[in-house]
Amino acid sequence: MGIRAWGPGPDIMNLRDIHTPVLLDRCIELLAPALERDGAVFVDATLGMGGHSEAFLERFPALRLVGLDRDQDALRIARERLARFADRVTLVHTVYDGIAEAVASAGFDAADAILFDLGVSSLQLDVADRGFAYSQDAPLDMRMDQSTGTTAADILATYGEGDLRRIFERYGEEKLAGRYARAIIAARAQAPIERSGRLVDILVTATPYAAQRTGHPAKRVFQALRIEVNRELAVLERAIPAALGILPVGGRIVVLAYQSLEDRLVKREFARSSASTAPSGLPVELPEHTPRFRLLVKGAELAPDDERATNPRATSVRLRAAERVEAAV
Ligand SMILES: C[S@@+](CC[C@H](N)C(=O)[O-])C[C@H]1O[C@@H](n2cnc3c(N)ncnc32)[C@H](O)[C@@H]1O
Repeated sequence: MGIRAWGPGPDIMNLRDIHTPVLLDRCIELLAPALERDGAVFVDATLGMGGHSEAFLERFPALRLVGLDRDQDALRIARERLARFADRVTLVHTVYDGIAEAVASAGFDAADAILFDLGVSSLQLDVADRGFAYSQDAPLDMRMDQSTGTTAADILATYGEGDLRRIFERYGEEKLAGRYARAIIAARAQAPIERSGRLVDILVTATPYAAQRTGHPAKRVFQALRIEVNRELAVLERAIPAALGILPVGGRIVVLAYQSLEDRLVKREFARSSASTAPSGLPVELPEHTPRFRLLVKGAELAPDDERATNPRATSVRLRAAERVEAAV
């Protein structure tokens, strides 16, 4: 299991040191107006090691937290980290497109504020036996929820060349997708590709020398496999509308995305909900056509230079935020 690398139990102080929550103050600032009332409900849709959640619970003493994660190791660590707030905390093991059901199961019919901090956690990346990192040799698992689903090794063993090429292109935006797919098919005819070290070797060998100087050859393929294993984009595409659907008027949402595919999807959903649905040419906007959300930041906000310099995760973050201004019709 993943947390073995931390010794007999999770070392909470150590976790705090290695993982600094990204754009924490900005997230609090943007969501605070929705959380000032006593008993306000905050949903952390990507609890991880509970870094953001801990800060929200400290900042708002009457806050109720519903924390979601599909990774049981993350939930175990967060539960321990947040133990001193136990009477205000409900943690739910779920994929985040089940956000509405999770909030209902915690006894609430709405969420005042919601945070998504997308992607993998430092825990998942750093614990070698999860197989997420191309820099460490490990079994090619890559499931965020290790209790269910297909592993990266299964995909490499069963997908045809066309499907491998498609996921490397679509989810990795990898220019050498075809070449890598061919190399994998040839290599697996010799022996199954079960470890990240072997996959890295195959990819490096298949990469022309000139391309080796533009970043690690395995980076985009690993990202693509992770997205495919966890169905990340399909889940997010369902999760954002589901999250918007449980915000009352005045409710707020912040999403932190770390790669352009996810950010594009969030941008599209936010744009759709903050646009008027009036048919063009109508002289007066009818109430049922007014936008239900307003955007709280212009475009996507990046982390400030000082945070980018000290927290590697912050270098690629794009923050988007919105507030419900109209009830659903
Ligand atoms: C970047 S980490 C969150 C870190 C957290 N904000 C903190 O400060 O500790 C993302 C977490 O979201 C979880 N996650 C990713 N995709 C998910 C999904 N579709 N459903 C539920 N949890 C998901 C991962 O397992 C991981 O623990």
